[in-house]
Amino acid sequence: MRVDLITIFPEYFSPLKLSLFGKAQESGLVEIEIHDLRTFTQDKHKTVDDAPYGGGPGMVMSPVVWGEAIDAVLSQAKTKPVLVVPTPSGKVFNQEMAIKLASFDHLVFINGRYEGIDSRVVEHYQQSGEFSEVLEISIGDYVLAGGEVASLVILEATSRLINGVLGNEDSVTDDSFAPGDMQNLLEGPIYTRPASWQGLNVPEVLISGDHAKIAQWRKDEAKKRTRKFRPDLKA
Ligand code: 6GU
Repeated sequence: MRVDLITIFPEYFSPLKLSLFGKAQESGLVEIEIHDLRTFTQDKHKTVDDAPYGGGPGMVMSPVVWGEAIDAVLSQAKTKPVLVVPTPSGKVFNQEMAIKLASFDHLVFINGRYEGIDSRVVEHYQQSGEFSEVLEISIGDYVLAGGEVASLVILEATSRLINGVLGNEDSVTDDSFAPGDMQNLLEGPIYTRPASWQGLNVPEVLISGDHAKIAQWRKDEAKKRTRKFRPDLKA
């Protein structure tokens, strides 16, 4: 997979050098390029924003600067990419969307700051046909100062689903929200050695060696936890 990220804060993406994503890059499963939006400005102050039409607080990011940056990325693309636009006014991200994103071979993330990006940018690239899809995605019902952290969240959830990125492919199917038997259940409690710690003992059943009983126990615990924390999932 190829990933381009456009931002005024390239340093926000340094965590991508680490851990799973870092290894995925080293092994060539993921190729990532970070672009500094300010290199696409025309004026000596490298301005990326302007006052909102209609008034109101804050600043809006310029469609002219964003257009230059996105067109530069498009000119280097080998296949039609998907445009990912992190925004609190987007569709709320979930595991199903991560699975879909992991199936594409080129993602371009545009990271807005301030009050956001002039709305014509999304409109233009929706109608230009240069992207196979334009996805406006929120990571939850709260407001961040910019799209960068949301892009990191979306990328981490997506990249671990690419074949070969995780060491153990089973850990994907056991996830909370993974499709399958445990779909729509939160993962229940997990334990490792020692069997007793701070007066707390690992549940007997897990030491019993009875695999059917263990599977049933895990499912029951997952249901309990889901009813407690996520009654909306109707476990
Ligand atoms: Cl994607 N961006 C911003 N700025 N705030 C958010 C968000 C995204 N998702 C939730 N809050």
